[in-house]
Amino acid sequence: MSPTICLIPGDGIGQEVIPETARVLAHLCPHIHFTQAEAGWETFLRQGTALPEATIQAVARADATLFGATQSPTDGPVQGYKSPILELRRGFDLYANLRPTHTLLPHQPQVDLLIVRENSEGLYIREEESDGETAVARRRITRGASQRIARVALEQARARRGQLTIIHKANVLPLTDGLFRTAALEVAEEYPDVQVDELLVDAAAMWLVKDPARFDVLVAPNLYGDILSDLAAGLTGGLGLAPSANVGDDGVAVFEPVHGSAPDIAGQGVANPTAALLSGAMALEHLGRVEEARRLRIAIYAALQSGPLPADLGGNASTIEFTEAVIHAL
Ligand code: NAI
Ligand code: MG
Repeated sequence: MSPTICLIPGDGIGQEVIPETARVLAHLCPHIHFTQAEAGWETFLRQGTALPEATIQAVARADATLFGATQSPTDGPVQGYKSPILELRRGFDLYANLRPTHTLLPHQPQVDLLIVRENSEGLYIREEESDGETAVARRRITRGASQRIARVALEQARARRGQLTIIHKANVLPLTDGLFRTAALEVAEEYPDVQVDELLVDAAAMWLVKDPARFDVLVAPNLYGDILSDLAAGLTGGLGLAPSANVGDDGVAVFEPVHGSAPDIAGQGVANPTAALLSGAMALEHLGRVEEARRLRIAIYAALQSGPLPADLGGNASTIEFTEAVIHAL
């Protein structure tokens, strides 16, 4: 049976990079069936919800979902608005966020690492309170969620170079980060073939800049993983190049560029589609189309070597021109 990919372009440059990615995927695998669904701020303004039920159903039915980006309200919280990607992660229990970083451009440091970000708890439970003078956020860490994310990271490490770094700040947060650390170390005992070490998150930030080649897989609580993965993206050319996957245990998977809706460049046709294209390659792997994914990566790499590059990488290629170059390389 031909696989179905659900497309959710969302807002801003999501509307530019997702259709182009779909065009490349259709070129590579003509039998893929695409469905379209909406989410985001524009959807909220029209329908009163940022994530319509029809979109949730379309994600549930698809073999993979490609999500662009959505725009958050800019002037603080808006009644009834919930971030669609956070709702999808929560609703489908997509507890693992896989964020790979590779060197793609010449004259960049050698990087080939994977950040496995815990996607279901930490500060992202969004339990905040404030009396106007004091504001408090709750941060939840559980043994179960820490163990399951550690297992994903250890499996990834086993399939890569066999090395895992556990990221935490247990010196300051011995109960919460201490639990994350202990739970990860417990699971690691089942993987004697994986070499495990640990780093405090601040030191990890320093080492990522100073010697990124020392890392293979990193596993981190939610917020640390979010921040470190943008840092890692910055090492190799920026958010225009950074893909990600949100996965759980029951087969639903949502692939998305790490970047947001980029309102500063939206509508100009200059967004770099590489992050979305690489997310598409991760989706193909999820669908078992490993050879097509490999061909897509090689074509993206070739287009980045030959140029012209998109604007965020110092070139003048439009989103469409760069995509054409990838298709040409295919
Ligand atoms: P952003 O990732 O949208 O943009 C940060 C900077 O990177 C901007 O200067 C932008 O032009 C540039 N950039 C990002 N992607 C690019 C690409 N593909 N090509 C070229 N340049 C690119 O982050 P920002 O500005 O903090 O957030 C903008 C909006 O996006 C906010 O409303 C935010 O809440 C939302 N957002 C949504 C996410 C999602 O839907 N998963 C993730 C991150 C942010
Ligand atoms: Mg982020």
